[in-house]
This record gives sequence, C-alpha cells and structure tokens, in this order.
Amino acid sequence: MGATIEEGKAAAARRTRAVFSSGRSVSSPAVELPAGLALNKRLAMDGLQLLRMLPDRCVTAAFFDPQYRGILDKLRYGNEGIKRGKARCSLSQMTEETIREFIRELDRVLIDNGHLFLWMDKFHLCSGFSHWFCETALMTVDMITWHKGRMGMGYRTRRICEYLVVLQRPPQQAKGVWKAHDIRDVWEERAKAEAGVHPKPVGLQSALIEAVSNPGDLILDPAAGSFSVLKACENTGRNFIGCDLNG
Ligand SMILES: C[S@@+](CC[C@H](N)C(=O)[O-])C[C@H]1O[C@@H](n2cnc3c(N)ncnc32)[C@H](O)[C@@H]1O
Repeated sequence: MGATIEEGKAAAARRTRAVFSSGRSVSSPAVELPAGLALNKRLAMDGLQLLRMLPDRCVTAAFFDPQYRGILDKLRYGNEGIKRGKARCSLSQMTEETIREFIRELDRVLIDNGHLFLWMDKFHLCSGFSHWFCETALMTVDMITWHKGRMGMGYRTRRICEYLVVLQRPPQQAKGVWKAHDIRDVWEERAKAEAGVHPKPVGLQSALIEAVSNPGDLILDPAAGSFSVLKACENTGRNFIGCDLNG
C-alpha cells in the first residue's frame, strides 16, 4: 500500500529539517580590543590602520564596500554627468592594490567559517574580481542582488541594482553556520541617500548579520560611509567595530 497524504507530508517535513538547520553551532571568541579602539562607535580613521590593530580571528562577519576608483573610470565613458559625479569624486578612492590589502587583512581577522559580504558594482562583476582573493582562503559561496527600488544613473541602461558577493573562510560550511533560510537572492529595499555617500540597505544587512552570527558577536566594517552596518548591529544586538576616513 502507498503512503497516505499525511505520511507524505510528514516525510517531506523530515527531509526539510534534515537539509535546513536553523541552529548555529559556531561560537565566536571573546575579544579584547587594543587601547584606542571602541565598540559601537563611528571611528574616524583609516580602515587599514584599524584592521592592522585587530588580532587574528576575532571577527564573525565583515562588510566591505570599497570606494571603487574603477567605477569613476568606467563612468567617465559617457555614463555620468560631471555635476552628478562630483560628490562621489570628493570621497577617497581606493586603488586595486588598496582593495587587495583590505581583503588580505579581512581574511586574517575573520574567524574560521566567518563571512565577508563584499559590495560590488556590475563593472567589476563582469570583468572579474577573483584575483583579489588569490592570496587569501576566502571562497565565494553566494551572491545577492540588491534591487534599490529607485532608478540610478547610466547612459545605455539605468542602474537599479547593486550586488553583494558572499565569501566564507574555510571550512566552507552552511549547515550549523548560516541559520536563516528565507533571505531571497534578489532583495528589494529603499535606502535613504545622504550627501556623497550611498548607504547600503540596513534591512538586508541586519538579516545577514542575524543569519551568520550570534548576539554579542563582533561585526566589522572598515569603510563604513554612513555607518549603515552600525545601525544593523544596533537592530540585531551585535557588537560593531568600524570606521571611515571621514568618521
Ligand atoms: C561606498 S562608501 C561606503 C558606504 C557604506 N557601505 C554605507 O552603507 O554608507 C565607501 C567609503 O569608504 C571610505 N574610505 C575610502 N578609503 C578609506 C580608507 N582607507 N579607510 C576608511 N574608509 C575609507 C570613503 O570615505 C567612503 O565613505
């Protein structure tokens, strides 16, 4: 005799439980910060200097949103008016070598299994970015498209999305580490624009922080702009360490 509908449903629920775990079996070390650094504050300093002060394997998750020099170079080819690009031009730009140095340090401070969420524009996504990680143990494990709900600039097409590449330090493991299973890989959220800085979505960053860390864990953003990750940490009860050149 075949299984009843109820038996079928119970078997499906058992299979789902076996595949998805909403527990987190990873715990992070207690961190003693060097003198001069403070948690949950908007620090005004160079992100590389902050990173170099942090001990190895102390950060559970990090967000990195580089001020890509490359975007300006691409936008010069007729995609953006000079006036509209002015506020962005006034921010400190990062060269490829600076970005690689940030990523090497991020790899050093992340715990095993820890996640790096790297914001990326479509130009870098298309031209390739894997060489940034060749001196690290980080591996790409996922990607989220942020639908900004507001049309941006562009000549051929108008930008409405940005991309968040998800990287993990080994061992690359999802079960028992990543505890949310309802985050869609296209995320729609409007973020309030501020002069010169383009804040990233606090709702998405909060959901990701909850997915990959426990309350009280240390979350890092070494180029924090409007400090949207600090807001996400306040929302989720995590500790934040981060800075921007402009504070
Ligand atoms: C794209 S914005 C970050 C936006 C941020 N994710 C948010 O949600 O508001 C990049 C930031 O990097 C900062 N920056 C550039 N070079 C830096 C450095 N060496 N150290 C720290 N911050 C830096 C810029 O001042 C800018 O605010």
